[in-house]
Amino acid sequence: MRVDEALIEKVKASVDIVDVISEYVQLKKQGRNYFGLCPFHSEKTPSFSVSPEKQIFHCFGCGIGGNVYTFLMEMEGYTFPEAVSHLGEKIGIHVPRTEQENIRREAKAEPLYRGMELLTKLYHYLLMKTSYGKAAREYLDKRGFTAQTIEKYQIGYAPDSWDTATRFLKRRGLPLEPFVSIGILATRGFDGKIFDCFRNRVMFPITDMKGRTVAFGGRVLDDSKPKYLNSPESNIFHKGKLLFGYPVARPAIKKKNEVVLFEGYADVIKAYQAGVDNGVASMGTSLTEEQAGLLTRNAEKIIVCYDSDDAGVEATFRAIDMLKPYHRSVRIARMPKGLDPDEYIERYGDDAFRHNVLGASATVMAFKMQYFRQKRNMNDEGDRLKYIETILHEISELPQAVERDHYLRQLAEEFSISLDALKQQQYQIYRQRKSKGELGKETTEIRPVTQTRPLLPAYQMAERELLAYMMHDSELAFAIREKIGAEFYTDLYGALAAHLYAYYEDGWPPDIASFLQKLNDPQLQSVASEIAMMEITDQATDKVIDDCIKVIRQHGLEERIRQKERERKEAERANDFEKATKILAEIISLKKGLGRN
Ligand code: CTP
Ligand code: MN
Repeated sequence: MRVDEALIEKVKASVDIVDVISEYVQLKKQGRNYFGLCPFHSEKTPSFSVSPEKQIFHCFGCGIGGNVYTFLMEMEGYTFPEAVSHLGEKIGIHVPRTEQENIRREAKAEPLYRGMELLTKLYHYLLMKTSYGKAAREYLDKRGFTAQTIEKYQIGYAPDSWDTATRFLKRRGLPLEPFVSIGILATRGFDGKIFDCFRNRVMFPITDMKGRTVAFGGRVLDDSKPKYLNSPESNIFHKGKLLFGYPVARPAIKKKNEVVLFEGYADVIKAYQAGVDNGVASMGTSLTEEQAGLLTRNAEKIIVCYDSDDAGVEATFRAIDMLKPYHRSVRIARMPKGLDPDEYIERYGDDAFRHNVLGASATVMAFKMQYFRQKRNMNDEGDRLKYIETILHEISELPQAVERDHYLRQLAEEFSISLDALKQQQYQIYRQRKSKGELGKETTEIRPVTQTRPLLPAYQMAERELLAYMMHDSELAFAIREKIGAEFYTDLYGALAAHLYAYYEDGWPPDIASFLQKLNDPQLQSVASEIAMMEITDQATDKVIDDCIKVIRQHGLEERIRQKERERKEAERANDFEKATKILAEIISLKKGLGRN
């Protein structure tokens, strides 16, 4: 199935790639382009760039690149026609899709994802609409979950039966083995009979970034153990790479430029009900690097709202460390000891949670100060001094001078110590730790990465430069073809040149975004988008072009001379001196050509 070319162009021309990508990535303008953290690989400094002029993107970190459709295909898992039609629908251009296309999609959808989606619906249905779900409904009601939130998060109930899911999947014609492999079903040891893993549990579907159910968290209805039965790690579920609630919260996170991090399912859902729609959960494990990447990708501000028991405080410290390299504004929300967000909301209400917990969240430093103070007796002089020393250590880690100054003043005031003395001591600590390599560099701003390649050989630079000009100008491309054809010495560049000639010959105007589309190969798209991002002077003079060609030809000549040298050595080894002499003559004449063209 092919979508009409004109329609593809029309949709593309009606949107700005910066707007589309901004829905997924926090972009900042720097020079001509926009930069952000790449959504396709984990990184701490932005190397993902978007060009509004060229309407393309390229990541200098992982190399991915393309136009607005390529982006959506990667991000949402769309096929090309899907990317066109989704984007079209969004801006009110209808892109007809044939029946055939829909059928192909169905067939392609993996049975696992399909089965998980069906199970999500089944459990939700059993909870809401049947007598099996009565006790679970009452339980959720008692805990204050409304029907609306249950719907939103597709909460369900797995009845107290050994074969509800097994029979259901079988009836749907799905193979059972894949569901055994992801821990939804299991095989009985002595006779190999397959049965359900989740029984008599409230089911929280865990979705991946695309909103597909990839796992379940199943909670008991009482105090029995284990409280939660979770799907194990599998090829579709990587706990450390996901955050519970992300697809629901994503628009709000983007819009508010802020995300709230919880520990558990119940917290996210209850907070959502309380009007906090930008919450996600790390699901009880300590924050991983991938999760930290997800959190920081779309938000400048992160509020950590973990349980206020000892385990929660410890997890908060770890989260702070994980988030530190991203230089985001991190705040810590605290509740009276022993409560988790869900319990707090139940006891004190929605408004109190929003204002007195989230609204009153503290800076990392304030959180640490309070924590260390609680651990010591402030009436004891020795303890007091130790406390001050600890805080000075913390202050030494702050990258910004204004911040350090702020807390030093606070400390000076609180303990009636001279500011100068504190500053001096803090500087001493800084020097000591610096020399031990314990402290990072002073940073105030993160510069985007726009170049990751080590210095390339001159001929490759020249080839890239030529291609960059050729992508902007079809006349120039044809002129260059006259001179060197596709005789680039770097295979990928040669392939790119050949594609470009064909593209112009088909009558397409110079348009990098369209050209990238037609390449239809990730490796070529990667190289092409990288080259397209190069800053070249707008007008290519004959001299610039000729210099490039000269460098390339020079390289070709050198290569041939090297080849001849090898042949000559070979001939000498074989005692074929006549041949060796002949080759030498060739070499000499080739060398004459060096530096001449
Ligand atoms: N968790 C888990 N297995 C457990 C306990 C906890 O996987 N046996 C994970 C779940 O993701 C849970 C999170 O850790 O949501 C936080 O744990 P906890 O605070 O104990 O659970 P709550 O979310 O508060 O659940 P509830 O309020 O229903 O007790
Ligand atoms: Mn709880």
